[in-house]
Amino acid sequence: MALPVADVDAEVLGWVADRADELLASAAVDGAVVLDARRQLAGDSAALLSVLQQLPDAFGSAVAPPRENFASRIELAPGVWSTPEWSGDREMCAHHEGAQLADPPAWLLMALVRPADSGGEVFLADTRKALQELPIELRDDFAADGWLLQRNFRPHLGVGWDEVFGTKDPVRVEELAGQWLVDVEWARDGSLRATSRRPAIVRHPGTGADCWFNQLAFLNHLSIPEPERAVLLDAFGVGGLPLTTLRGDGTAVSADQYDAISRSYLSSQQTVELLSGQILLVDNVAAAHGRTPFTGLRVVAEVPFGHVASS
Ligand SMILES: [Fe+2]
Repeated sequence: MALPVADVDAEVLGWVADRADELLASAAVDGAVVLDARRQLAGDSAALLSVLQQLPDAFGSAVAPPRENFASRIELAPGVWSTPEWSGDREMCAHHEGAQLADPPAWLLMALVRPADSGGEVFLADTRKALQELPIELRDDFAADGWLLQRNFRPHLGVGWDEVFGTKDPVRVEELAGQWLVDVEWARDGSLRATSRRPAIVRHPGTGADCWFNQLAFLNHLSIPEPERAVLLDAFGVGGLPLTTLRGDGTAVSADQYDAISRSYLSSQQTVELLSGQILLVDNVAAAHGRTPFTGLRVVAEVPFGHVASS
């Protein structure tokens, strides 16, 4: 099914502010809406970034800065970020903005700043349908105990704890972890284990539909291609990996579960052709998003805004 496309035929911010509720309601049902502002913004990165900065306000909400990042990202303009650094030759499989947070953002704006030479298409999947596609026993398992994100921070391996917590002070790390509902545990060698328990299924605040909303497959080590995965498992074991997801009882996600979760997105997955000057308004709970592999220097700007709990 094609996504709704809204033809923005006036100054973008005022036009959005006049129909903000209608646009957000449409995104809740269809997963996303394309705001087509090519006439105003195509080929003008400065104007695009300026509009993106101000759009959360036009929607009557506030920007939700990315936190607890699993990969580095660049702030392209105040309140506007690049997508997380993720190898261009790997698909970024279906995931959500900040679903590892206790207070995930409700919406995400995406816009093309620089196209790839080839590939790099955005795709979306319907999380209500993904939930229905899952085997009942898997759904029940994760409905009961949620899922765990487990990170082991070691020097010089991936994003450091100082970058994630924005401080080099271990006491401040513990304060922030308490606020963010993350359990932290220091090892004698100064490495840090951080574990977050999150629900796997979330009731959409607008539609009331149950949605499969988590990073279970995306951040699981089974998504890492071989032979890199084997090297990591050899070095650290599942419990010591720099980043992985676990079942709510702390046991590993099985290969069958991983495959079933990955497959659950496919029946509703659709590619979105995002053109310069168009802005994709994604309902972060109703839709999971991803991108295909690409070549070249693709740049996509993102603005997460609002919070699921308070939206
Ligand atoms: Fe994303």
